[in-house]
Amino acid sequence: MLELRNQFIMPPIKLGYSEGDGLVNQKHIDFYKRRSKHIGAITIEPLYLDSGLREIPAQLGIDNDEKNEGLKKLTNLIHLNGAKVIAHLNHPGRMANPKIPGNFFISSTDKACENGGAVPKKMNREMMDDVIKMFVDSAKRAVASGIDIIELQFGHGYLLSQFISPAVNDRTDEYGGSFNNRVTFPLEVLLSVRDAVDVSLIARISADEMISSGIHIEEMIEFSHLLEEKGIDAIHVSAGSVCSTPPWFFQHMFIPKGKAWELASRIKKKINVPVIFVGRINSSKDVELLNEKYDADYIAVGRAMVADSDFVGKILNKVEGNIRPCLACADGCLGGVKRGEGLSCVVNPLVNTSLHEISKADSLKKIAVIGGGLAGMEAAITLKERGHQVDLYEKNKLGGQFNLASLPPNKESLKDIVDYFNAEIESHKINLIQKEAVETDIEKGNYDAIIMATGAVPDISPIKGLKEFYWTEFLNDDELPHG
Ligand SMILES: Cc1cc2nc3c(=O)[nH]c(=O)nc-3n(C[C@H](O)[C@H](O)[C@H](O)COP(=O)(O)O)c2cc1C
Ligand code: SF4
Repeated sequence: MLELRNQFIMPPIKLGYSEGDGLVNQKHIDFYKRRSKHIGAITIEPLYLDSGLREIPAQLGIDNDEKNEGLKKLTNLIHLNGAKVIAHLNHPGRMANPKIPGNFFISSTDKACENGGAVPKKMNREMMDDVIKMFVDSAKRAVASGIDIIELQFGHGYLLSQFISPAVNDRTDEYGGSFNNRVTFPLEVLLSVRDAVDVSLIARISADEMISSGIHIEEMIEFSHLLEEKGIDAIHVSAGSVCSTPPWFFQHMFIPKGKAWELASRIKKKINVPVIFVGRINSSKDVELLNEKYDADYIAVGRAMVADSDFVGKILNKVEGNIRPCLACADGCLGGVKRGEGLSCVVNPLVNTSLHEISKADSLKKIAVIGGGLAGMEAAITLKERGHQVDLYEKNKLGGQFNLASLPPNKESLKDIVDYFNAEIESHKINLIQKEAVETDIEKGNYDAIIMATGAVPDISPIKGLKEFYWTEFLNDDELPHG
């Protein structure tokens, strides 16, 4: 057992907030402090074990004792909020970022990931011993920093799963071939860390890599038995691989929701240690289902906590208000990290800014917001929370062009944000004026300020003879064939 105050855990999510030195800074502190008020445990973003093993330049490190002070400060602040802290230790193997100068690449194989990445060196015994030492030293640093729990990465296509996966491991020695051979080195890492530190250990695994030649559930049930036998305290069941099937790994909206939960449930039925369920868990309905149908021990909520830092507080009825839903788009979070801008969020404008709370304004104004698309609604709600008097003008349906975004197949989750804003406009008692704002409205309204949020119209190409053209109006609900 992990002994948390409740069943919710924030899983590892790369933030990309460090300044290239791998050290904790104010941005990390603000991000996790805001999210640790109600949750059981926070997993800090994956910590690099060596500066030559980074996935992104702005990753946090645990590769030397200089990192301990910052990690200690961060851990203390999270503890003050009542949550436990988990250090996620991962060796990326051949998936270290080839664009970062000084990175090095090792693996069970000497073949690069088929979708890109550097050609790795096939590991010999000496390299394996070096890797074990890195895990052990980093685990000791985590404990010295006051961190409560260590999570070891055995999944997602990183080094240890590059040994486990038959799709990657092409060795003919005692570390390749049969299942028992492929899991030998990963279990050596576990046993060495187990011997070195006296804290709870979680194993993160991919129950299925979602490629025919890769890891599948039957072997992972067997592996879970071995993990249990060797003293693991919980198993965190995810899916996919960063090399072959990244959308499974970060659970994009195109991936069937709930498939990872089914895999976790199959493992849970066969073992006695607790299982952590993960993957697009972003509503109270999801949490209820996981508890009622699967009897989930622990529930990992990642992007739900990015989109709404009070997600767990709201689920537990400790914070009032509607849940700002994560859309599983990955545009702001993963996109921000990949672009080198750091994690942000398309539905939560406070992420990746120095603003953390909406404060009351010193002087109160009367403000008109013209246009009830997402930007207009967000502006109206924020102004109201600041204490201003707000009139929101919208001649059509609230949500604007974003109402069209959820119509294509597999994009249904995008509708959730329009529903959320509609509910917020109502609960904030914002004066909604359902008409086009004209000059006399503005004159009569006697406003101190006006926000134009009327959106944009597409550019029309100067094509000779073009007389009739359509934008997206044919997608409007009423225009679509029904039945
Ligand atoms: C921006 C981003 C970065 C992530 N980085 C990692 C990572 O480095 N290691 C890892 O095991 N999982 C990583 N994940 C996956 C999450 O831990 C989690 O499994 C996934 O987001 C699904 O859970 P969620 O739907 O609750 O967010 C990342 C996810 C996102 C969105
Ligand atoms: S950017 Fe999209 S996927 Fe990422 S947390 Fe925000 S809503 Fe969720």
